Amino acid sequence: MNVFITRIIPESGLRLLEEAGLQVKQWSQKRKMTREELIAECSGADALLSAGQQLDREFLEASSHLKVIALHSVGYDNVDIETATRLKIPVGNTPGVLSGATADTAFLLMMAAARNAFHMHRTIINGEWGFFEPTANLGKELNGCTLGVFGLGKIGTEMAKRCAGAFGMKIIYHNRSRNEEAENLLDATYVSFEDLLKQSDVLTVHTALTPQTEGKFDLGVFKQMKSGSIFINTARGPIHNEHDLIEALESKIIWGAGLDVTNPEPMQADNKLLMMPNVAVLPHIGSATEGTRNAMARLAAENIIAVLKGEKPPFLVNPEVYIGL
Ligand code: DGY
Repeated sequence: MNVFITRIIPESGLRLLEEAGLQVKQWSQKRKMTREELIAECSGADALLSAGQQLDREFLEASSHLKVIALHSVGYDNVDIETATRLKIPVGNTPGVLSGATADTAFLLMMAAARNAFHMHRTIINGEWGFFEPTANLGKELNGCTLGVFGLGKIGTEMAKRCAGAFGMKIIYHNRSRNEEAENLLDATYVSFEDLLKQSDVLTVHTALTPQTEGKFDLGVFKQMKSGSIFINTARGPIHNEHDLIEALESKIIWGAGLDVTNPEPMQADNKLLMMPNVAVLPHIGSATEGTRNAMARLAAENIIAVLKGEKPPFLVNPEVYIGL
């Protein structure tokens, strides 16, 4: 049976697929595939392993013969899950294995924003490391501050652990429903969204992109945040309104920001956020460590192998496809 892969993926995932006797074809060009190219490549495939591609209704309807789609990501906002479910195509993802690496990235961005680190680095490159001024280049200390987590799931919990351990930060959170396990582990307090905004010195976003969270952080919301606070987003760019974030930073409604995700991606090189001293931006590298990317590739491969063997994939986004089977 044939598997088509939309990117070059880590060796460990490929090996699993090949050891299972599957024929694998990878897209090796360094650009996103068009929908038409994807449809053509999938026409002879039984399974699709997809990284970084939009899988919309048109694609899914043209590829309804696929027995499984395995995503090389935990997020599945780029897939029309409703259509995949209607067409009875199981869609798998890679939860858990990337939580630590993504939380590390959030922590790095928090530190970088708090100490103007990316900007300071730029001053050296620009030949501006000159006269020592005791009142210049001052950052923020995080000791004893309050971390507000918007979306206290696996990644949010890892970020909270790091912040509590490193700085004794008090943890508050807002979710659709309470996470009692994390409350016990972190002594975290559930608060309303409004209280999260009012009380957080650092507000970190770890929720999925959904119609409910899209554009959630706009100017009205930034205005309710604690003055002097730092906004971190390593989840998905469209959860914050970038234009409003720039305004909130320029008018000092909030103090700083750390972003691993932008809207759109890639961010243009002349984006104002890149030149702001209290802002740190990374190009969506949350899960980019060798160990994590290998683990993601293995999970994606396991999802495919399970379905092609007639079993349920271990990490399934749309369990409804199995109802009644
Ligand atoms: C994920 O796994 O969802 C990461 O953000 C990569 O897209």
